[in-house]
Amino acid sequence: MHWWQTGIIYQIYPRSFQDSSNANGIADGVGDLNGIIRRLDYLQSLHIGAIWISPIFPSPMHDFGYDVADYCDIHPLFGTLTDFDRLLAEAHARGLRVILDLVPNHTSEEHAWFVESRSSRDNPKRDYYIWRDPAPGDGPPETRLPNNWQTHFGGVAWTYDAPTGQFYMHQFHRSQPELNYRHPEVLPAMLDNMRFWLDRGVDGFRVDVIWLMLKDAELRDEPPNPDAAPDARPFDRIQHIYTGDVAGIHDIIRQMRAVLDEYDERMMVGEIYLPLERLMTYYGNGDECHMPFNFQLIGLPWDARVIGDYIRAYEGALPPGGWPNWVLGNHDQHRIATRVGPAQARVAQMLLLTLRGTPTCYYGDEIGMEDVAIPFEQCMDPAALQQPETYEIWGRDPERTPMQWDASPNAGFTTPEATPWLPLAADYATRNVAAQENDPASLLSLYRALAALRRAEPALNRGAIEVIDLGIEGVLAYRRTAEGGDGFLVVLNFGEEMHELNLHQALGGQATELVLSTELIPSRVVTEGIMAMNGNEGVILRLRQWG
Ligand code: GLC
Repeated sequence: MHWWQTGIIYQIYPRSFQDSSNANGIADGVGDLNGIIRRLDYLQSLHIGAIWISPIFPSPMHDFGYDVADYCDIHPLFGTLTDFDRLLAEAHARGLRVILDLVPNHTSEEHAWFVESRSSRDNPKRDYYIWRDPAPGDGPPETRLPNNWQTHFGGVAWTYDAPTGQFYMHQFHRSQPELNYRHPEVLPAMLDNMRFWLDRGVDGFRVDVIWLMLKDAELRDEPPNPDAAPDARPFDRIQHIYTGDVAGIHDIIRQMRAVLDEYDERMMVGEIYLPLERLMTYYGNGDECHMPFNFQLIGLPWDARVIGDYIRAYEGALPPGGWPNWVLGNHDQHRIATRVGPAQARVAQMLLLTLRGTPTCYYGDEIGMEDVAIPFEQCMDPAALQQPETYEIWGRDPERTPMQWDASPNAGFTTPEATPWLPLAADYATRNVAAQENDPASLLSLYRALAALRRAEPALNRGAIEVIDLGIEGVLAYRRTAEGGDGFLVVLNFGEEMHELNLHQALGGQATELVLSTELIPSRVVTEGIMAMNGNEGVILRLRQWG
């Protein structure tokens, strides 16, 4: 087994994790690398295996780092390469792996390649990006779009560059021009950027929008989406068959994987939003992504039956040797505690940390951080700013607010004098790490207990999974088993009703013992396989000598 299979991945959104003071003792309200170093002991105490840090590279920050101006340096806001090397060494010394965010689909408009590319039509780097003439017609050139493509942030996917009289293509912000992977020099250059970090000792990459890296060679119009709601935004009214999952993408990913394989024990996890069958193709024959992110828990209704069916479908669809993974949230999605409510947030963590496969946790979910409602005037995210009518749906600031460390002014995220770059949650004085560390019944205590159990028990960190029908509406159950060890039965109550579980019948007389409840009350008795379960409760039961 590899580290990325047995360990939990913890995502740090670096702007919001921990601000440290600069050399003059001044904090700027934006998190940084020295801040992360300060919190490594905390991270280690979560029994995680790796941290993934969202982009920390030089960037004008129009998309908060996902617009990279230089792939091989650190943004001064976050620190220096020396700070990074120290972070890497200190993390490794604590047994934590470090995963960086690679953003190969697009650069910032400030990247040297794009500066050259846009300088003239015959610049040697012109075709590093996707440039097109205005469509034929009479109107002003900037209105004659090359095709009907749209951006994820609202608005058309083409920006007109008056000095050279052509449009460049971008599926995100106009400051994020997309690289042209049909140009023979682009991929080798990006592979060198990977090597730069791998040589420094980075353990792997989370690869941003990896399925979008190749576009239709003819840039054809995307067809209408017959399933779109009448009020859907233009982006959702077309099917993205020419901007994503385009034939040829797998060759690119294989070459990226080959670079990782030049080193020992490195990995990449691909950001891919696609239906199950398409998602699975990104494992390749064990020669593409080590894992394509499985985001379905984010999109599916929070329903025991639906999720049980999906676990079966996902497990059934994995290619031979393909290692599963699960995600409850990230910097692009509303917080899990907001989506399912505080009571189910505990059940959700038990689900994530007991499913088969690598869990990815979003910072702050271990203390149940919720979305922070941010008025439009205070929004920072381009996805909000460009869609003012629907910013509450698409805006991503609410899930990116500063980590709540303690009850002091600014929650220990930054100094009391500084202004955090996004507002803190109103409840930070009560919902914070310090308060939960001292509370044996807190979500943080539950998280640690779950993570420790997962690490200690082979059945939970690598064993097989089997979804079991207990015949109770609103209750999801599955068994985890490994050869030569105890097995476990996980039972999750997605509803508020109490239930009497008859496990004797369901398990054919296995001896059981309650190991952990989301309520953290260990004293429940399981007699003859009969156990009472509270509403919104999840339990883990040990099955002695299973099999
Ligand atoms: C990915 C990132 C998102 C970013 C976009 C463009 O989806 O997760 O935050 O805005 O790519 O890079």
